[in-house]
Amino acid sequence: MFSSSLGKKYLMALTGIVLIGFVFVHMAGNLQVLLGQDKINAYAHALQSLPMPILWGSRLFLLVCVILHAWTAIVLIRENRAARPQGNDVEVTKRAGLSSLKMGLSGTILLFFIVFHLLHFTIRTVYPEYNDMMTTVGAPEGEEVHDVYTMVLAGFQHIWVSVFYIVAMFLLCGHLSHGFSSVFQSLGIRSDSWRVKIELGAKAYAWVIFLGFSIIPILVLGQKLDFISFFEPSLFSDSLAVR
Ligand code: HEM
Repeated sequence: MFSSSLGKKYLMALTGIVLIGFVFVHMAGNLQVLLGQDKINAYAHALQSLPMPILWGSRLFLLVCVILHAWTAIVLIRENRAARPQGNDVEVTKRAGLSSLKMGLSGTILLFFIVFHLLHFTIRTVYPEYNDMMTTVGAPEGEEVHDVYTMVLAGFQHIWVSVFYIVAMFLLCGHLSHGFSSVFQSLGIRSDSWRVKIELGAKAYAWVIFLGFSIIPILVLGQKLDFISFFEPSLFSDSLAVR
């Protein structure tokens, strides 16, 4: 089934739905940074402490979804290009070509973003000193946990990092907005009467995701540049900022 164009469209839509859901859950989890060090550290620790098969099973599942989503996109774009536009369809084909070009471009940059993001906050090779950030805040009695809160605050005090994240979130917003409404079309459940409502809903969802993710780098950068005062000022000392 997945060797046909329709099958690939389904696969792209289904993996897209998983990724649309993932970004919401991840964004909601991240917002705990705004609730304080204990909340986000305890949350991250709880996730890291999930039983191995669940933790690695979901990571693998997510990775497979990202790969399949990108692969089906590449194959479908190639197939569309190979199909020659005919007669009155030229204009429609041109428009579809432009939006798939935009989706391909934002999708590719997002793939780079994800690789960078994993090296930055999960594998921590960009700033290896983040590995040494340990604390008892948010930890179970008598234990230490990784200080995700301090890492995120230190991370976004680098102007280039914050700007890169905010730009990537803006691209994610555009990608989601178009992708979310395309899902309905690919699955054949987008009627003309629902088209406008679905497009509006997709736009609203995409902006919620943009704001929910970007609020953290915006607040940290704003405080670093002395526009905002939201977090504990001692976290903005030079020793932390240079990390
Ligand atoms: C401002 C935006 C973001 C922030 C602050 C953020 C924060 C984080 C942090 C702190 C971790 C590591 C958690 C830990 O130590 O356990 C993480 C992991 C991750 N993030 Fe993000 N994230 C952001 C945006 C995104 C986006 C847009 C995506 C995907 C499109 C994403 C995908 C991931 C993935 C796949 C992981 C690895 C999860 C795992 O360990 O299994 N993140 N993020």
